[in-house]
Amino acid sequence: METTKFAIPEIIFGRGSIKYAGQCALRNGAKKVFLVSDSGIEKAGWVQRLMDVLETAGINWIYYPSVTANPRDFEVEQGAEFYLKNGCDVIMAIGGGSSMDTAKGIAIIASNGGKIRDYEGANRIQRPLPPMVFITTTAGSGSDISQFCIITDVKRAVKMSIISRTLVPNISIVDPLILSTKTETLIIQSAIDALAHAIEAYLSRIASPFTEPQSLKAIDLIMRNLQHAVETRSLDSLEKLSIASIAASMAFSNAGLGAEHALAHSLGGHFDMSHGVVHPILLTEVMRFNLESCPAKMADIGRVVLNKRLGSDEETAMEGIEKLDEFFASFDVSLKLHEVVKKNDKKHLEPICKMAVNDACNLTNPRPASWQELLKICQKVW
Ligand SMILES: [Fe+2]
Repeated sequence: METTKFAIPEIIFGRGSIKYAGQCALRNGAKKVFLVSDSGIEKAGWVQRLMDVLETAGINWIYYPSVTANPRDFEVEQGAEFYLKNGCDVIMAIGGGSSMDTAKGIAIIASNGGKIRDYEGANRIQRPLPPMVFITTTAGSGSDISQFCIITDVKRAVKMSIISRTLVPNISIVDPLILSTKTETLIIQSAIDALAHAIEAYLSRIASPFTEPQSLKAIDLIMRNLQHAVETRSLDSLEKLSIASIAASMAFSNAGLGAEHALAHSLGGHFDMSHGVVHPILLTEVMRFNLESCPAKMADIGRVVLNKRLGSDEETAMEGIEKLDEFFASFDVSLKLHEVVKKNDKKHLEPICKMAVNDACNLTNPRPASWQELLKICQKVW
């Protein structure tokens, strides 16, 4: 086996665990916390709850509420200025992927200077970042666990993948109680994003014995609990989705992703589309493309999805992919690209695929994928 490495943050998991946020900041030397969130989390009352926790711990904070969906390059650069001007020393984010990726982008610029696009790709960050304590409000993005930060380059209209060990937060607080205030759409999109993370990480060229069990665990938990979580909103099933998201994140953060996420970033950047929308459209078609390069691993996924193994690897793999199609169709999600973009947008697919082929996620796809092959995939799911 080749040399491998595995990095995750300290994880504090449990119902009500937001109450430990103050202690977590203090343990990282906080005198003034830079608190990042968005209006949705604020309206749900979680920002105030966190401010109360910080106040009880005797910690000052500056609130940065300017997070938008699909955070943009100039937004994190402005945020870094605000961070430095206020003399903050710990970055705390409460929110989904957008809040946490904004916080990571701010941390990069505040400590390393320059423009965020200077850090696109893998291992471009030279200097240590300020301590980061994240509280996720979704079970999917995994930014609270991962080495990834996704920021939109406005000029090129593309979501940049920035990947570095230094982007793993110091502490991730996962409080399943927060999920109970999320919409059904967000719960479904986040869980399917986590499922895509788990599957792509399992098939990745650099998957390891440290990431593979986490991937399979996440797939199993999502297949067995998402429907029930949506129907009942029971805390037990929401908690299982949180565990699944953590497992998937531990896997993809260390094993990388694949062509599906490369396309998702490129499509999302071009059309300013929510990340969670594209996976039910793309994931199974990318799996069909990858099947010839990794039939045994695809059969492992099929076995977990189907809860049984069929006669051959190919049969188990194919049946598993079809079962995933059925699974996605059982939710109120789009299954074709034309449902989420305009009819005359089809002409943009070629430049989008040319961009996707250079996304860092494409490097770990099990089967090398050219832009022409990515285009074929997009045309199949149009
Ligand atoms: Fe994702």
